[in-house]
Amino acid sequence: MKHFINLKDISARDLREIISDAKKRKKSRNKLNTLEVDKGAPLRGKLLIQMFEKASSRTRISFYLAIKQLGGGTLTLRSNELHLGQGGESIADTAKILSTYGDGFMLRTDSDTKVENFKKYLTIPIINGLSPSSHPTQVLSDIFTVEEIKKKPISKLNICWIGDSNNVLDSLIAASVKFSFKLNIGCPKKFEPGKEVRNWVKENKKKIYIYNDAKKAAYGADVIFSDKVISLNDKVNKRKKLLSFKKFKIDKKLMSYAKKNCIFLHCLPRGNEVSNEIFLGKKSHVWLQALNRVHVQKSILLYCFGKLR
Ligand code: CP
Ligand code: NVA
Repeated sequence: MKHFINLKDISARDLREIISDAKKRKKSRNKLNTLEVDKGAPLRGKLLIQMFEKASSRTRISFYLAIKQLGGGTLTLRSNELHLGQGGESIADTAKILSTYGDGFMLRTDSDTKVENFKKYLTIPIINGLSPSSHPTQVLSDIFTVEEIKKKPISKLNICWIGDSNNVLDSLIAASVKFSFKLNIGCPKKFEPGKEVRNWVKENKKKIYIYNDAKKAAYGADVIFSDKVISLNDKVNKRKKLLSFKKFKIDKKLMSYAKKNCIFLHCLPRGNEVSNEIFLGKKSHVWLQALNRVHVQKSILLYCFGKLR
């Protein structure tokens, strides 16, 4: 049994194996309908319990499809409908109950400590479906999407992030170390990545490149990533924060500093950080990016259940 909480804690080899498995699985089901099960139904009879303490469209649906296509099923819960969410039941007891009924647990929460506490008491694998410090299933899937479109290992590409230093960026930074790719970050000084993640990069003898000028960050990029400036439950002065990002909008002009065949990716939901022209334009692959979450999460599930081929 393996957990999937943070890319930092998973070996580069395991991450690469997940991506390779997803590639094979995606290819082998191109003639199958949405709910048809992969050959061999590797997770036949398994139940993934998903719990959301915050909104989700993509993570919820893509995990539903992922486990279905492997022969299992999901139960989706809102924490405020449980005794736990109402404050009456401990994490330890809830974890024991989840482990009694289910085979895997996916959690989206505002608390990294909660993820760790669940991990402590569960006897089934836990998957982090977004926490304040990490969105690992999103970013691993994004690596898959980049390699699928660019047809080369991500280590040979210049990756750029324009936007807030949030959970998605923290996972992208972790991925840049694990997959050895060059990562430029363009953000205002006040919203640079935190010390903890920067120190972790240093400890791993790797580098990330931070610019307070979007053009410099975008220069020569093969891929530009972005995310909402204001994340779910972000407790900031929204107006002020949005103002700080005024010069970090991804538009045609900014894209012109990147390579000619640069692609644009965004995990969604979006705000005003990208123009409609770019988001809906030819360089954008955001819909394929969302779809690929199904394929990669299937291999993440198999990794957690010790069934990766
Ligand atoms: N990208 C992503 O995780 O989307 P949801 O918040 O809709 O799950
Ligand atoms: N950074 C965003 C990602 C949403 C999928 C958030 O945490 O809200």
